[in-house]
Amino acid sequence: MRVLVIGSGGREHALVWKLAQSPSVSKIFAAPGNGGTLAEGAENVAVAADDLDGLVALAQREQVDLVVPGPELPLTLGITDRMRAAGIACFGPDAYGARLEGSKAFAKDVMERAKVPTANHAVFSDAAAARQYLREAGCGMVVKADGLAAGKGVVVARTVDAAVAAVDDMLEAHAFGAASERVLLEELLEGEEVSLLCFCDGTRAVPLPSAQDHKAALDGDQGPNTGGMGAYSPAPILPDSQLEALADQTVRPVLRVLAEDGHPFVGVLYAGLMMTANGPRVLEYNTRFGDPECQPLLMRLEGDLAAIMLDCVHGRLDAAKIGYTQQTALGVVLVAEGYPGSYPKGMPINGIAEAEALPSVKVFHSGTARRDGQLVSDGGRVLCVTALGEGLAQAQRAAYAAVDKITMPQSRCRSDIGSKGIRRLARQDG
Ligand code: AMP
Ligand code: GLY
Repeated sequence: MRVLVIGSGGREHALVWKLAQSPSVSKIFAAPGNGGTLAEGAENVAVAADDLDGLVALAQREQVDLVVPGPELPLTLGITDRMRAAGIACFGPDAYGARLEGSKAFAKDVMERAKVPTANHAVFSDAAAARQYLREAGCGMVVKADGLAAGKGVVVARTVDAAVAAVDDMLEAHAFGAASERVLLEELLEGEEVSLLCFCDGTRAVPLPSAQDHKAALDGDQGPNTGGMGAYSPAPILPDSQLEALADQTVRPVLRVLAEDGHPFVGVLYAGLMMTANGPRVLEYNTRFGDPECQPLLMRLEGDLAAIMLDCVHGRLDAAKIGYTQQTALGVVLVAEGYPGSYPKGMPINGIAEAEALPSVKVFHSGTARRDGQLVSDGGRVLCVTALGEGLAQAQRAAYAAVDKITMPQSRCRSDIGSKGIRRLARQDG
């Protein structure tokens, strides 16, 4: 099988790494890929993830059998529809299904129809009406741009004034352009967040083990939101024994609604959940693997990923073919100083071989390039240093021991990836 992976981050490196282990895979292309996909033996092709014509032409020219889009943008632009029209299997939802991620208002409509528990909300395109709604409610709320805003379109506003400021920013100052022509005002929920991802074949959903992301830039969940500073699996707040029941509540009803609409959902459906005192609530859907959640999840996956993905495309997903190691996987993201704001590029990276010489360690490249034989940073998130361990504390120690082997000027990472889960385990034991 010849496979094309679309994207250039750590998630895509992990996808290439795992797909390369599939006995049925003979050749992998990455568009555009990064230093890590290259090191895995993939052929990087300089076609951007949003260049649909270029991607279809590449898949046809290279007689690709399976296309795996990593990020959301090609999905919302309709890459699956385009590949399908060209007779090429594509592991991802069509543009209709991808609106679950591309439009928060659409996701809310689907959740309502599917009776999925979520925060109460209202949608506004008029700033005056939104301000009045906030003043009448008299409490803080979460203000969300309707469309894709690279993870920056959500403001958790704890006061009315902060919420009004966010509304003005989005609806009047057009902070996110077309993506913030409509905003959602949402009830502010309290609780711990966790991710539930499922393989989906249009009608069936098979949950992956739970994962927990760390979105805030700084230790203790402080500082601005990022794409994700680290992740681990499983998350103690969502043990394996609860996965099926939660998929019944938050994922399978959505598959039923989309199938009714004539757009059966294929790919990974990712429910971002808040575990509140009143039960789980869906905060958002992603229509793809998360980055960095994908890296620890694929470290744990036992099975032929290419075969699983093809089974999804062909509507014959079989949970019996999918397994996971009982070990815990934990990934720490190394970022360039300044991220998620502006940051320098081109810093030399050394020590990856030494890190990977440690047992059960894999260093995934998020933003790297090779210049004159030297690996250099090429993005805000640069590496995701991932390790397996017996339990969360050991996985955490192993991942940070590997981080210590790596040198890169002007880089940093959070020092507490996994600590929230370790504290929860201690409470459960005590
Ligand atoms: P989203 O992109 O919708 O997942 O929102 C990004 C982040 O904002 C989430 O990971 C939460 O930390 C926070 N958030 C979103 N919605 C809510 C909510 N209703 N209540 C509290 N926090 C939220
Ligand atoms: N790590 C969160 C995301 O991929 O959306």
